[in-house]
Amino acid sequence: MEKFKELKFNIGELKGISAKNIEEHLKLYAGYVKYSNLIYEKIGEYMADSEKNAYVLGELQRRFGFEFNGMRNHEYYFKSIEGGAKALSEDSELKKAIQKQAPSFDAWLTGFKAVAMTRGIGWAVLYWDKETEQLIHAWVDEQHLGQLNGLGWVLGIDMWEHAYVYDYPTSEKKKYIETFFENLNWEVIEENFAKCL
Ligand SMILES: [Fe+2]
Repeated sequence: MEKFKELKFNIGELKGISAKNIEEHLKLYAGYVKYSNLIYEKIGEYMADSEKNAYVLGELQRRFGFEFNGMRNHEYYFKSIEGGAKALSEDSELKKAIQKQAPSFDAWLTGFKAVAMTRGIGWAVLYWDKETEQLIHAWVDEQHLGQLNGLGWVLGIDMWEHAYVYDYPTSEKKKYIETFFENLNWEVIEENFAKCL
């Protein structure tokens, strides 16, 4: 099997998110890449005697989604803050899709930020559902619990405390959410959306 590779991101100076927090966060991302490879390799090894190792294999299979999504979620996350903050253009397909579904773009954004405020650790994710041709936003617990089958990832905000704890106390996660959007490169998000269509 092809190994998962650790991606490099070109993240410049951000407003309200320190280089230290990004640096530590990238180390965690590297861990997800490492363990995605390791867990897959271990599953292969234990498969040599799947009957004897059934219990271990079962537990490893359960954790694969955690490591894999931990890797992939972070790739979307870091790419979305590469290249500096860029606004969502008025005539973009994504803006039109949001405005078709929500009373206004701002109303949609308020709703999405409310999803991000869900208690616990995980991700607020904006998906595109090809089947019903609509945007759906949802909460994903940890890295993987509640990921929606077959939907395309448009935008995600990491709501684990490690994403902001060097810059904000945990009681001020709302500030981190605002900061994330101030740094967001919407051109990347538009590209994600175009790939989903
Ligand atoms: Fe993270």
